[in-house]
Amino acid sequence: MIRKIITGMMIFALIMAGLIAGPLVADAVTKPAERHIFIEARKFAYTPGKIVVNKGDIVTIDILSYDVTHGFHLDGYGINLKVRAAGDSATVTFVADKAGKFWFRCSETCGVFHPFMIGEFVVEPNRTFPSSVGLAIGVAAATVFYVARRRPTQKQCSSNDTSGTVGKGE
Ligand code: CUA
Repeated sequence: MIRKIITGMMIFALIMAGLIAGPLVADAVTKPAERHIFIEARKFAYTPGKIVVNKGDIVTIDILSYDVTHGFHLDGYGINLKVRAAGDSATVTFVADKAGKFWFRCSETCGVFHPFMIGEFVVEPNRTFPSSVGLAIGVAAATVFYVARRRPTQKQCSSNDTSGTVGKGE
């Protein structure tokens, strides 16, 4: 009975260890990507209105005005750009080191709908893939452990292969 509980706890611990270790290893190994994003500013919207990057990416934002003076204020990152008139551009480069959803908004009065000139900047935690790889390794380790423990007591053929989840990643 105690043996069964210990086996169960060990399997759980191995799976959890895989789940935790996956992202840590990935953080140490993955190189940040460089992202160059061009934004068109015109009354009263940005194109694109939604930007998605991964945490750790080196992001360069290039903003160009197509009509009047517009601003670009990015919440959470303390970034504020200004483009003065049609054809004027501004640029900034930063590391997307905070995960989450941030708004960018126009910081220069540009007309009646100026308060509605907003967009979305999404920084994804970059964890889904490493977690699934870690989980697969954890499950594989738990399977090996389970089979190794069963072998001495049970003589019957037990070939339930639960490692089918390995390689589920992208
Ligand atoms: Cu564009 Cu205010």
